[in-house]
Amino acid sequence: MPPSGRLAIFPGSFDPLTNGHVDIVLRSVHLFERVQVAVLVNPDKRPLFSADERVSIIREVFREYPNVEVDSFAGLLVDYARARRASAIIRGMRAISDFEFEFQMALMNRHLEPTLETVFMMPAEQYTYLSSRLIKEVFSLGGDVRGLVPSAVEKAMHEKKGVKA
Ligand SMILES: Nc1ncnc2c1ncn2[C@@H]1O[C@H](COP(=O)(O)OP(=O)(O)OP(=O)(O)O)[C@@H](O)[C@H]1O
Ligand SMILES: [Mg+2]
Repeated sequence: MPPSGRLAIFPGSFDPLTNGHVDIVLRSVHLFERVQVAVLVNPDKRPLFSADERVSIIREVFREYPNVEVDSFAGLLVDYARARRASAIIRGMRAISDFEFEFQMALMNRHLEPTLETVFMMPAEQYTYLSSRLIKEVFSLGGDVRGLVPSAVEKAMHEKKGVKA
């Protein structure tokens, strides 16, 4: 039987997935029957992990959660959400610094698709300072990212470093 119930989409780059992202997904599954982590394919960016690599890492992290789906998308989020018949967009809110951009995006998406609601969630305090960009920077300088990213992500980062070295 195909999964049913309300679907929320959690879009982002997830390059890589951090424990902050995981925290938001785990909070979202309490509110929605299905949560889809949607990896944005952005041709303008040079990511550490390809979109396919990110999808497979995130699938691995949530393999024990049947209500968490993982896929990638390109183009307009509202088009993707419409095609998936999603009820809501999930976004994480770390600090005031996230607010301006998120507010602007939420209102633009509402302009494009008035029936699609954006839901903001705050992570546990210990994750409020985490970003993918910072994780990559710390890791590339030899810092320990254990406890900040899921172990599958840490492993993939070490493998990637091994390939590049
Ligand atoms: N530590 C975190 N806690 C809560 N939400 C987060 C956290 N990190 C990112 N998010 C949210 O996850 C969504 C996807 O964000 P994104 O993929 O840009 O992650 P990011 O960590 O901000 O990456 P980057 O540093 O590359 O911008 C956004 O809504 C963002 O606000
Ligand atoms: Mg970001």
